[in-house]
Order: sequence, then C-alpha cells, then structure tokens
Amino acid sequence: MGKALFITGTGTDVGKTFVTGLIVKRLRDAGKHAGYYKAALSGAERAADGTLLPGDALHVNRVANIGETVENLVSYIYEEAVSPHLAAQHTGSPIDFSRVQADYQRAKAKYDYLTMEGSGGIICPLRWDEGEHLVLDDMVERLGLPALIVADAGLGTINATVLTIEHLSLRHIPAKGVILNSWTGSAMEEDNRKMIEAMTGIPVVALVGRGDEELAMDAEALAALYA
Ligand SMILES: Nc1ncnc2c1ncn2[C@@H]1O[C@H](COP(=O)(O)OP(=O)(O)O)[C@@H](O)[C@H]1O
Ligand SMILES: [Mg+2]
Repeated sequence: MGKALFITGTGTDVGKTFVTGLIVKRLRDAGKHAGYYKAALSGAERAADGTLLPGDALHVNRVANIGETVENLVSYIYEEAVSPHLAAQHTGSPIDFSRVQADYQRAKAKYDYLTMEGSGGIICPLRWDEGEHLVLDDMVERLGLPALIVADAGLGTINATVLTIEHLSLRHIPAKGVILNSWTGSAMEEDNRKMIEAMTGIPVVALVGRGDEELAMDAEALAALYA
C-alpha cells in the first residue's frame, strides 16, 4: 500500500492542477512510482465522440507522464462547470462515498506516492440531497489523508490560507505545507510567506512561478510529505 497526499487550495482556479502536475512530475523524474487521483471533476469538455474529457486529470497525466487510463484517474465527471453537488442534482448521478473510497484505495495500492486533487477549496459540497450530505472536508477526513495547500502568492492570501489551515485543523486533517503559486518574488509576497508561516506554524515548502516547468523542491523532502 502506497502513501498519499491530498492537494487542496484556497479556492477554485488557484493552480491546484498546475502545481499537482509539477509535484507528480518531480517525484516521477526522481524515479518514484507516483500517480494521481481525483474523486469528482466538473466542467469537463465533451469530445467529438461524446465522451467527457476530465481536463485536470488529463493535464497531470500528460505533464507528469503517468500513462494512466481516464477511468483510473477520476471517479465522477460532470460536464457542468459548477460544484459537484449541484452538477449531481442536475444529472441525477450523485457521488457515492464507498465508490470513491474503493477507487482511491485501488489507486493507492497501485502507486507508491498517490497525489489526490480536491475540487474547489476545502469546503466544497460534493453531495447534497435527501439521501446524504457530503462535503470535501468530510471525505478527506474519512479517507485519512494529510493535506498540502496551494495558494496564490499575492494580495489576500494570508486570510485565505490561514482560514484554510485553521479549518483543516478543526477537521483533524494534518496540514503538511503550503505552496505559493504565481510567485513573482515581490516584497509583499515575501511578507505573505513569512506571515503564513508565523501565524500557522505550517511551512511554505515551495514557490511556483508563472509557466514553471519544474518544481524547485528536493524530491525526498517532497516525498516525506506523503503518509
Ligand atoms: N504557475 C502557473 N503558470 C501558468 N499557468 C498557471 C499557473 N497556475 C495556474 N495556471 C493556469 O491557471 C488556470 C487555473 O489553474 P488550475 O491549476 O486549473 O486551478 P485549480 O486546479 O485550482 O482550479 C489554468 O488554466 C492553469 O493552467
Ligand atoms: Mg483543478
């Protein structure tokens, strides 16, 4: 059974997928058997033959050269670009936690280092119907994963990142580190990095600039975040 790490973010579009691609690539380039899994993806494009294309998973699969099949990368794919709970209310195919658990366990057994990407931020409703209420934080807690937070390097990130870390702590999800994305190295960003570490005690483990093709982080230190 391999180790795993959950990638969350301070919100949608902060760069979780972009950074995850670099993380998995870094591990694989160092010779580690690293894979990717996402429970639910919404906003999928439709191919000419009608199949839904899970953009996040396809991006990481390509950038990190995993060579995995779509079925093994994502459990639920929704076309509508809305939260999974709302997409599922419209399609009538809600997320079944036991299926996510089984798919996750299978992926974890196959790879030594499994990186699981979340949908949206840590409080993303995955399922909200008469049968069940399931929020992303419940899912991560039930799967027993530690988390790494991807946050934008710029203005507003202290609030968003500290709130995310405090919520993870409330849900007993270990926070392993923060990666600041779209880093330019300005004095304000340097202060954001310092303040996040000072206010939470959680280290900023890497900085990712626009268009970076490699993660500037030691592969062993990265691998040590997985549990
Ligand atoms: N460091 C970066 N350099 C270049 N493009 C980026 C970077 N970070 C994010 N992007 C782009 O911004 C968009 C949103 O990022 P994405 O990783 O999909 O966010 P999330 O997974 O958090 O929703 C995508 O088009 C992605 O390619
Ligand atoms: Mg994504």
